[in-house]
Formats: sequence, C-alpha cells, structure tokens
Amino acid sequence: MSLFRLDASIRTEGSVSREIADEVERAYLAAQPGAEVTRRDLGTAPLPADLWTTAVAAGYVSESDRTPEQRAAVSRIAELADEVLDADAVVIGSPLYNFGIGAHLKSWIDALITDPRFAPGTSPLAGRPVVLVVSRGGGYGPGTPREGWDHGSGWIARILRDVWGGDVTVVETELTLADVVPAMSELRPLAAEKRERARAEARAAGERAAAVTPAV
Ligand SMILES: Cc1cc2nc3c(=O)[nH]c(=O)nc-3n(C[C@H](O)[C@H](O)[C@H](O)COP(=O)(O)O)c2cc1C
Repeated sequence: MSLFRLDASIRTEGSVSREIADEVERAYLAAQPGAEVTRRDLGTAPLPADLWTTAVAAGYVSESDRTPEQRAAVSRIAELADEVLDADAVVIGSPLYNFGIGAHLKSWIDALITDPRFAPGTSPLAGRPVVLVVSRGGGYGPGTPREGWDHGSGWIARILRDVWGGDVTVVETELTLADVVPAMSELRPLAAEKRERARAEARAAGERAAAVTPAV
C-alpha cells in the first residue's frame, strides 16, 4: 500500500503545510504500518518551466513527427503521472502565494493534465482519498478584508475533486504569519487555535485515507 506525498512550500524550515502534511502521513502510516511513501518535493525541486509547454506542443503533432525534446517531455510526464496512479492515497501541501496557487504546483498540475490519463473527463483518482493541506499567511474568513482573495485553494480542490475525481478532504490553516509579523501579534492565539484544529483534522484525514485503503 502506498501514499503519494507532494509538497510545494518553497521553504523547508518552518513550513506549516509540511508540518500539517506530516500529521496526515504519520496517521496514515500508523494505520498502515507497512505502507510505502513516495515523495515529490516541488518546493526544492520544481519541474522545468518548459516541460509543460513542450508536452502541449507534442500534442499538436503526430507521434512520429515529435522532436526528441517533445518525446522526452511526454515520457517524463508519464512517469510523474505513474507515481500518482501507483498510490492508494495522496496528500498535497499547497501554500497560498500571491493570492493564488504556487507556480510550481500549478506547473505540476498543468503537466499532468497533458497525460491522456489525467485529461478532463478521465477521473484518474476516482475512489482514491486525497488530502489537500492549505496554508495561508493571512486570514480569509467571512467578513475579513481578504474574504474571497484566496484564488488558489478552490481551484486546486476543484481539479482534484471535479476533474480528477478524487475523494478530497481539505485541511486548511491560516494566519501562519502571525508568529513573525509584529502587526499580527494580536492574532497569535487565534492562529494557534487554527493550527491545532488543522493538526487534528489532518490526523483524522490520514486515518480515513488509510481506512479506505485495503490492509497490507
Ligand atoms: C512569496 C510569498 C507570497 C505569499 N503570498 C501570500 C498571500 O498572497 N496571502 C497570504 O495569506 N499569505 C501569503 N504568503 C504567506 C504564506 O501563505 C504562508 O507563509 C504559508 O504558511 C506558506 O506555507 P508554508 O508555511 O508551508 O511555507 C506568501 C508567502 C510568500 C513566501
């Protein structure tokens, strides 16, 4: 049995999305002790920016007319798609950057969608638990000045759920910058509360993901 773990935070120290995804992973492994974890870290090892564009161009020509670069891009993306399809469950860490999804994560999704198995209408993750961990520095709740400004989380949840067919649980935490931004210091207790709630939700999501995975 296996878990595919995708991280997209551009930091390795102090990353909240990684910390919450760790909770999901730990809970999954506690319930499925023999499970394997396949990792991809887009934060420290992003995909080349032209991988997606080269694969898109390959889609416009017949296979026999593809350039060596186009063939290489298509086959690289097939490998990336395989590592997701080979897993029984998926956890993805998605920080909010500039009010949207991180560019590295967007590139990964764009690349995968060029693989025929991940094209719209194929539901490659049908029946598979997917835990989406979202971290945001600010607050975006109802009535806050930034309500409606998170243009990333809804988009990626829709891709995972409505385009790829995953059984998606979203675990969100926000105000993560309260600890380091003096102007947000009053929000620290609320930030801590949200983080604790996210940890608990992450553990529950990891356990649920393991429960729908056949025992090792
Ligand atoms: C380049 C950059 C842009 C960011 N943009 C936003 C933003 O638009 N809104 C927000 O609430 N937080 C923003 N943040 C803060 C991150 O969302 C926050 O630090 C989050 O915890 C990042 O995930 P991580 O802790 O896993 O690294 C930004 C951080 C960086 C480094």
